[in-house]
Amino acid sequence: MKVDTKNNTKKTEKEIEKLLGKMTLDEKLSMIHGAAFFKSGSVERLGIPGIVTSDGPMGVREEFMSDRWFSAGNNDDNVSYLPSNSALASTWNPYMAYEMGKVLGAEARGRGKDVILAPGINIKRSPLCGRNFEYMSEDPKLTATIAVPLIKGVQENDVAACVKHFAANVQETDRLMVDEEIDERTLYELYFPAFKAAVQEGKSYSIMGAYNKVNGYHCCENKMLLDRVLRDEWGFDGVVISDWGGVHKTKEAAECSLDLEMSVFSDFENYNLANPLKEAIKKGEISEEVVDAKVRNLLRMMYRLKMIGKEKSARKPGTYNTPAHREVTLRIAEESMILLKNENQCLPLNASKIKKLVVIGQNAAKIHSNGGGSGEIKALYEICPLMGLKCYLGGNTQVRYVKGYYVPDKLKTFDHNWQADSLDDLSNSDVGMLTREDDSTQNAAHRRGEEERLANLEKEKEEIHEKNKALFAEAIEAAKDADAVIFVGGLNHDIDSEGFDRTDMKLPYEQDMLIEALLEVRKDLIVTFIGGSPVEMPWKDKAQAILWSYYAGMETGNAFAKVIFGDINPSGKLTETFPNQYEDCVTAKNGQFGVWGSIKLEEGLYCGYRYFDRQRIAPAFCFGHGLSYTQFTYSGLALKAEKGRDVKLTFTVKNMGKRMGAEVAQVYIAPIMPKVDRPNKELKAYTKVELAPGRSKKVTVTLKEEDFAYFDESLHNFIADAGDYEILIGASSEDIRLKGIATLS
Ligand code: GLC
Repeated sequence: MKVDTKNNTKKTEKEIEKLLGKMTLDEKLSMIHGAAFFKSGSVERLGIPGIVTSDGPMGVREEFMSDRWFSAGNNDDNVSYLPSNSALASTWNPYMAYEMGKVLGAEARGRGKDVILAPGINIKRSPLCGRNFEYMSEDPKLTATIAVPLIKGVQENDVAACVKHFAANVQETDRLMVDEEIDERTLYELYFPAFKAAVQEGKSYSIMGAYNKVNGYHCCENKMLLDRVLRDEWGFDGVVISDWGGVHKTKEAAECSLDLEMSVFSDFENYNLANPLKEAIKKGEISEEVVDAKVRNLLRMMYRLKMIGKEKSARKPGTYNTPAHREVTLRIAEESMILLKNENQCLPLNASKIKKLVVIGQNAAKIHSNGGGSGEIKALYEICPLMGLKCYLGGNTQVRYVKGYYVPDKLKTFDHNWQADSLDDLSNSDVGMLTREDDSTQNAAHRRGEEERLANLEKEKEEIHEKNKALFAEAIEAAKDADAVIFVGGLNHDIDSEGFDRTDMKLPYEQDMLIEALLEVRKDLIVTFIGGSPVEMPWKDKAQAILWSYYAGMETGNAFAKVIFGDINPSGKLTETFPNQYEDCVTAKNGQFGVWGSIKLEEGLYCGYRYFDRQRIAPAFCFGHGLSYTQFTYSGLALKAEKGRDVKLTFTVKNMGKRMGAEVAQVYIAPIMPKVDRPNKELKAYTKVELAPGRSKKVTVTLKEEDFAYFDESLHNFIADAGDYEILIGASSEDIRLKGIATLS
């Protein structure tokens, strides 16, 4: 397939051809597969370095040994631990996404990396997906608007973003082999748009092929995905990197547009694109041309990164662990927190009136940076909520902390990294170094490991129940005698993790029982959570105040305290639906999630709020929901047809309260009598406005023709039918404040 290199200078293309012409087959092959776990092969003779990659979305991962899954044991690889992509997206602030990208890119460069394996932008199809914390939203438009500036920020540092995992990496169960059947319209309208924006607007220099299959073919060997869509339709001229172990077949991977094979095995010359490919070329089964195409893409990225060529000396040096980076991390954490409920102005607390504060719950004191799978971070530090509260209050307030509930200690009983077994049985059995097995052997081990893991979870429940008796009593007693009581619970990376999914959406460790008991003695209990995906809150009608935070990085505790005491007015909004119970979700109904072997995404476009809208199911908290300590009004919606088929909207948002605040005004389109089946409403734009008390701002948003379009499979293209569309302006997907009708010619 032709690679569209229009946005690449002719000069560079000529230099690429010149370099390529000098290379032997062995030299070319060395470039297209791992020569170490996180590095590709180099061609010293021609001054071509290996490409150094590193995880991940929340910062630059620690150094590992090159061919053993053991930490290098350095003491110079602590980094800024950034907010998760879920936390970042909850700010609904593209500018902060750009700021975070600049920090992530600078830290990657500072650590000598060429590619940062981030961001994660898969659609959150089910609240149970283990990696939801690494993804941004259930909505493609929101995901795209956060991913694009993030990628730009990263790449300003002469580091490549590697947007992942392409495509539709929607579950961790059977993640290496699960075959996902997805119709074309659903791919083009739901699972592709954020990747298309990342490539075409973000200009991502690289992209990572996912582990799973789509419509019968592994993503890293999928001609539809990598050749037709990515290269031919989207014009991607960057590098496709496999997920680590995502390549299964030499010929398929060689003859489709995968450029760099990475894996967790240390027999690098046995990788599919190494000796097996060399043999196939020697036998004339595969043309050497396919290798040239891959090397061209790799060299093109190297020129862009100033790794080679005349601009090499101008490459940005980057840096890591700077105060400025930590300031950005704090600001994002502050903006990411979501006030779900706040009756009787429970929040913010008045610090001057609190002489005795009781803090209950393990997430008050737990750090999260060192978990979650490949996104794990060796943080320079991490401020937990308890520390943040104490730092804020100082020594005149008595702060008493009680655990409240028991969390089993997942002691790591061996010294190699979990990733050594990540293609195998995930139970982290102490196999040390994996030896390459065939897919079915590996898959059987993987499945055994998962069954063992689930059995262990069941055993733990008895232990938790036993230990909770005393812990609950202590917490309830403590809660009775305090000026204020804050509960900090939720999830952690023993639950939110790469490699496996949750089996339900309930709070673990019997937290629900404790919260109910605490609410009995403290009607004003401040209920707060840290987690990577939605949880059920059966007691939510009894709670007056509920605050949610995703994993928000090293400054979480400081941001948490500033929101609790009102220095920061929360402005985060949900980027995914929080259902009342998992049974309300489409994946619970159709059973097409968390299944081994294959799943059929028969719900099509209808996941998240698209599903809850269509089925008229009330969620606990809807997509786009998030309260403030002040109130906003919306008025004066005016619509104006513009050139082409654009529609310009103007409306005014006013801060009616007594404190500064920021509001995310959301714009949804709702086709009236559409010719084809379409979601009731879809997010197409949003604006975050910061307003001083009493101030108002006139907001202008232009909807483009594409915002009205749906994908027509017969045309294999997007079309926007003429007709009437309701325009809904909302403070959330349900709290619609203004309505208008746009007529498309
Ligand atoms: C992991 C993950 C991917 C990560 C890669 C390298 O298995 O799926 O997100 O970047 O391998 O660690």
